[in-house]
Amino acid sequence: MCGIIGYTGHRPATQIIIEGLKRLEYRGYDSAGVAFCLQNKVHVFKSQGKLNNLENKLCSQEIYLTTTGIGHTRWATHGLPTEKNAHPHLSQNKRFALVHNGIIENFKELKHYLKDKGIQFNSDTDTEVLVQLIFYYHEQGKSILDAIYETLNQVKGSYAFALIECAHPNTIWAGRHSSPLILGIGQGENFIASDIPAFLNYTREVIFLEDNEIVELTPSTYQIYSLKNKKGISRKVTTINWDIQSAQKSGYKHFMLKEIFEQPKVIQDCLRGRIDECENTVLFSELENFPLPARLNIVACGTSFHAGMWAKYILEQIAHIPVEVDIASEFRYRNPLINKNDVIMVISQSGETADTLAGLRLAKEKNAKVIGLCNVVGSSIAREADVVIYTQAGPEISVASTKAMCSQMIMLFLLSLYWGNKKQLLTPNFKSQYIAHLLELPEQIETNLQIFHQKANHLAPKYSWANSFFYLGRGLNYPLALEGALKLKEISYIHAEGYAAGEMKHGPIALIDPQFPTFALAPEDELLPKMKSNLEEVQARGGKIIALTNINSKLEVDDPWIIPNFKSPFISFLILPALQLFAYEMAVYLGKDVDQPRNLAKSVTVE
Ligand code: AGP
Repeated sequence: MCGIIGYTGHRPATQIIIEGLKRLEYRGYDSAGVAFCLQNKVHVFKSQGKLNNLENKLCSQEIYLTTTGIGHTRWATHGLPTEKNAHPHLSQNKRFALVHNGIIENFKELKHYLKDKGIQFNSDTDTEVLVQLIFYYHEQGKSILDAIYETLNQVKGSYAFALIECAHPNTIWAGRHSSPLILGIGQGENFIASDIPAFLNYTREVIFLEDNEIVELTPSTYQIYSLKNKKGISRKVTTINWDIQSAQKSGYKHFMLKEIFEQPKVIQDCLRGRIDECENTVLFSELENFPLPARLNIVACGTSFHAGMWAKYILEQIAHIPVEVDIASEFRYRNPLINKNDVIMVISQSGETADTLAGLRLAKEKNAKVIGLCNVVGSSIAREADVVIYTQAGPEISVASTKAMCSQMIMLFLLSLYWGNKKQLLTPNFKSQYIAHLLELPEQIETNLQIFHQKANHLAPKYSWANSFFYLGRGLNYPLALEGALKLKEISYIHAEGYAAGEMKHGPIALIDPQFPTFALAPEDELLPKMKSNLEEVQARGGKIIALTNINSKLEVDDPWIIPNFKSPFISFLILPALQLFAYEMAVYLGKDVDQPRNLAKSVTVE
């Protein structure tokens, strides 16, 4: 998830674009760049790291004269966050510059095709194929618009892009498919951006471009075209009445809530390019030359550790790979026994967590092979692992991790299908069913999020008096119970303990009384009868119970939270947001600083 912006008008474009990029930095901040047309030449400025590095590069340049330009702030997905890979990318003849947000799935094939045509590439990004392909078709004599049509009809994946060409100094071309793109309409000036905050200071008149729409804008005109039939389209202008802050949260009250509601899109992005529906298989090109693990040792912290625990059940069931899961701060000092073909997987959203990084380095010292499952491209763990697999969650701003865990679970689920298939354990029917269920997940979660939010909103005031909570689950729901408890603790500051439900009677049940409620994860699966008796033990001691369950479970508890009856493990992707929303609403009800809870940091880089 990157941020792109374009401006054409009567004001100095540099200022507008830098200001806009600052407002889009929550979308990605590992490198940035701008491009302008001046004296029949495209001028590009790029820098690694924070935006002010770019600003320092710009200050002495005469480009302040130009009134048209494009800009980009990056969240790397393909190619390390270096200056070379920063956007804008130039065409071979240096007359086109392009910025892009999204993932071009078939970029490797397109790159090969263009290389055979003599096109040289300057970066490792997927994006560069877009500008080189437009240049290629333009060189064939096509108009810029036709070159864009031709290019986009070849592309698979998601994109929002903006393009300039030096022979047309006041024109910007832009288009989208699956990534957001908004047109800002001003008086004698027009804007294009990934999100409204980028230009909200200059206009509140916007058009939300739809998928497969292209727009050509100049200071005084804009024309939208359909990619499908190249015909002109007129679209309704919407007036935005948000302030900048809420606009960055897309109207959500907190980044945490926004990130919870982004999970359907995150799953779509994680599945993108990973499933070959014709062959009914899962693809991990990163693992082509990587040994099949005889045993897997997962090492992580916090929420990432819970994702690892969840994956243990999946990897053992589907791929028959024995899995051990370690808290990184324990792993690094317990002198773990690691055999020759053992594989260590370190999981980290930030890729910078000190204990997890130390776990990685220890494993390498012991000659183990290390897979890094990370969200931040180019992070330390990503760089030091033997192989890195990226979760496509986009930047996670809220300290409490939500969509990152969802993305980790999806990737680990895909890995279990990948290795299970490699070991020829999976029947064609099993594969096609599981792949079909995975592809349906985003929409099914989307449908339920609002309902879950209302339920959480209803339950929070009812349980806000509690000073402690138990979270109980069995099997796959045990690690999810741990995660539910962690979310409640870290943002509402209510004491909470996640427990394997069967373990309660070995001690913790002593704590149960009417003041100590329980949040039970009790979907209708083979362990429900066991969960039922554990909950009866809690009720027998006056404990109040909220239970996430299904309509047919007929669970008699204080507050049943009925969720659709998905089969395991798919139901985990419904249970997770329900847990997140309950913790969120409790914290909001108690007036806590949800996005920046006390005593916590987004990335724990110390021991
Ligand atoms: C989770 O909400 C917390 N922010 C924290 O437990 C986090 O999961 C942990 O610090 C691990 O972070 P990582 O995934 O970036 O390594």
